[in-house]
Amino acid sequence: MSNFPDRKSLDMTPPPHLEDITVATETLGFDMASIPTTGALLRTLARAKPAANVLELGTGTGMATCWLLDGLDADGHLVTVDIDPVVQQVAKINLGYDPRINFVEQDGSEFLQNTQTLRFDLIFADALPGKFSELDEALSLLADNGVYVCDDLLPQENWPVYIETMRARPELEVEFWEWSSGILLARKTAA
Ligand SMILES: C[S@@+](CC[C@H](N)C(=O)[O-])C[C@H]1O[C@@H](n2cnc3c(N)ncnc32)[C@H](O)[C@@H]1O
Repeated sequence: MSNFPDRKSLDMTPPPHLEDITVATETLGFDMASIPTTGALLRTLARAKPAANVLELGTGTGMATCWLLDGLDADGHLVTVDIDPVVQQVAKINLGYDPRINFVEQDGSEFLQNTQTLRFDLIFADALPGKFSELDEALSLLADNGVYVCDDLLPQENWPVYIETMRARPELEVEFWEWSSGILLARKTAA
């Protein structure tokens, strides 16, 4: 497995509320939460852009959400979407006080189809919509030079098709790392 970027090169300092969210996630038995290395990478990417506008598809219990939020500056903004109010409630309880975050309880497919005028500097696609369906819609929300991130791509049968589909898109520069849970990172080149 590739060692880039290794844990030593990433800031792994836990973001606020990670511990409480972790405990609540375990209590709920939610087993799809992002792991810390993925969170740390997302925070680094969020930090890279002043006043970043960020979209997370699939809030879950807010595990990646708290890393993303920690990377934003005071003028940044994060929209996070999930169809399941029970899991999203954990994130709301822990992070909902922060004016930089906007929770959307909606089917991600509907969200993507109805928000085509929005633009995001960073998209974390962590639900089926925006990854295996409505991919065009999700990528069209990327600002020029915006970055799209997808995880949970360690080798499985259908992943190579998805990765090759992404690599074939002329508007994207795509990196895939067999690192963390398997990360694909795509930058939209300026038109
Ligand atoms: C992999 S988990 C998200 C984990 C979270 N981002 C994290 O970092 O811990 C996928 C999430 O997608 C949500 N989901 C599934 N189908 C969806 C849909 N059609 N629209 C929106 N969210 C959906 C699930 O409820 C689940 O919370």
